[in-house]
Amino acid sequence: MNYRHVYHAGNHADVLKHIVMLRAFLHLQKKDKPFLFLDAHAGTGLYALWGDEALKTLEWQDGVGRFYDPSGKAVPLAAEAEALIAPWRHVIASVNATGQPLSHYPGSPGFALDVLRQNDRVILNELHPDDHGKLAEFAQRDRRVVLVEGDAAIAVKAHLPPPERRGFILIDPSYEREDEARRAVQMLRDGYRRFATGAFALWYPVTGDGLSEVIAKEAQALAIPKTLKIELLVRKAVPEGGLAGSGLILINPPWPLADELAAIGPALCERLRQSDGAAWSLDWLGAEI
Ligand SMILES: C[S@@+](CC[C@H](N)C(=O)[O-])C[C@H]1O[C@@H](n2cnc3c(N)ncnc32)[C@H](O)[C@@H]1O
Repeated sequence: MNYRHVYHAGNHADVLKHIVMLRAFLHLQKKDKPFLFLDAHAGTGLYALWGDEALKTLEWQDGVGRFYDPSGKAVPLAAEAEALIAPWRHVIASVNATGQPLSHYPGSPGFALDVLRQNDRVILNELHPDDHGKLAEFAQRDRRVVLVEGDAAIAVKAHLPPPERRGFILIDPSYEREDEARRAVQMLRDGYRRFATGAFALWYPVTGDGLSEVIAKEAQALAIPKTLKIELLVRKAVPEGGLAGSGLILINPPWPLADELAAIGPALCERLRQSDGAAWSLDWLGAEI
């Protein structure tokens, strides 16, 4: 395992993923009944943007960095899209000093712990021992959290269905292994088989090497109703051209998430575009609600 998210935190893919996640949480919280957030690939929870690792790639500057000016002031989107990303900005503000350049970007556990309620439950699973150690430092004092140091595929099987019968499951692999695309879709399938009413999000990279097509094809083959695919390319995807974009397969996206994403997507694409070939798409792979 060589992948460390600290090199990539706050990039365009994180921006998309975390905005979607927070919108989903907001809709799940419309009912009083608590739910489980299972973060199968949690990372560390919070990332320094000026640390050695982030400075090596500076990926965040073409991600979250495009939403703030150098003094740390928000550069707003058009009104409707800006209103929809307000929860994401709110959490970012909570880990940065007012009136100062951005210094930190939350990971998925950081976003979740900021917005989830006292009676919601959070399982944070991370396999890498160093990142798990950092995650533990970040989250272990939070009484909503159970920390697990193990393989995501096992976590998905072990913790579903949750007793609450409500939940959001994030599957966010690092795609280092040859067969990881198929393994990721298998995790989605295993999770859905145990918990068919849960909301699931599977993140994947778009790199021009065919992985995103494998994911989409295999996700479609699961024939799960209410399966939505969104994709945001910041440039044209070409073989060996690096991370040109990312996508999410969403199962049971809580209403009206799909409509909101249709509204935010083009605005995010415009803000994050790096060259011609930037594109936004939203497609139902299974029947729409
Ligand atoms: C893309 S990062 C996660 C980012 C995080 N979800 C976020 O949004 O801030 C993927 C994480 O999965 C971890 N990982 C890799 N293989 C894993 C496995 N088989 N089971 C659990 N975690 C794994 C990596 O160490 C890495 O921290």
